[in-house]
Amino acid sequence: MLELIDTHCHLTFEPLADDVPGVVGRSRDAGVSGWITVGTSIEDSRRAVALAERYEGMYASVGVHPHDARLVDDAMLADLETVARAGKVVAVGETGLDYHYNFSAPEEQKRVFAAHLELAAGLDLPVVIHCREAFDDTMAILEGISALKRVVFHCFGGAAEQAHLVLERGYFISFTGVVTFKNAHKAREAVKVVPVDRLMVETDCPYMSPEPVRRQKPNEPALMTHTAAFLAALKGLNPEDFARETTKTAKTFFSLEPSA
Ligand code: NI
Repeated sequence: MLELIDTHCHLTFEPLADDVPGVVGRSRDAGVSGWITVGTSIEDSRRAVALAERYEGMYASVGVHPHDARLVDDAMLADLETVARAGKVVAVGETGLDYHYNFSAPEEQKRVFAAHLELAAGLDLPVVIHCREAFDDTMAILEGISALKRVVFHCFGGAAEQAHLVLERGYFISFTGVVTFKNAHKAREAVKVVPVDRLMVETDCPYMSPEPVRRQKPNEPALMTHTAAFLAALKGLNPEDFARETTKTAKTFFSLEPSA
């Protein structure tokens, strides 16, 4: 039996939130027996923590998505710190920069991203990064904060060149089902340069079901086995070895107890 961890999912999002026991049950049956459910607002982060408290093997990451940076004031950052101190919180994020949509102005995004990093450094928690069309600024801001515990670029969509730069800094990279998509040549080239002790697997569900079940909606953690098998083949490993190695990476990254 495989033992995989979905290192980035949104189990508080509809429609997954309507049937978490079913989602978790199917996931365990498929061999995905750990989950990091990621908050994208203060309220959502609180829900993520509450959910994680109910399930063995489930943990929470807390943060405000860069899309909503414009809404973040000092009071909200204080609330975020309170949530981040809760049990079962294993990371801060997702945080970062998204210049694809620019739902918040870049300056606002940078301010809130830096605040998340300060919080993570202060609490000695790793950071989950969302970076879209903002690679240089993301790297520059990360460089400006010393004492960051560990950093992962989630849903990595960059080229192999960027993966090299990320790895050089000692950061980690996680891949979603997007790598299985027909046109994801660039992402697959990036996979090849990431060693398994820096590589993690995620669904980012309810979005982006992997091939060959891409039409199945919503995406859910059970479907991550397809992504893991695909990545294993790209890395030239059998699925069992790939699962063991990347699960070890995830447990190290998030400081999960061995039985997670
Ligand atoms: Ni996400």
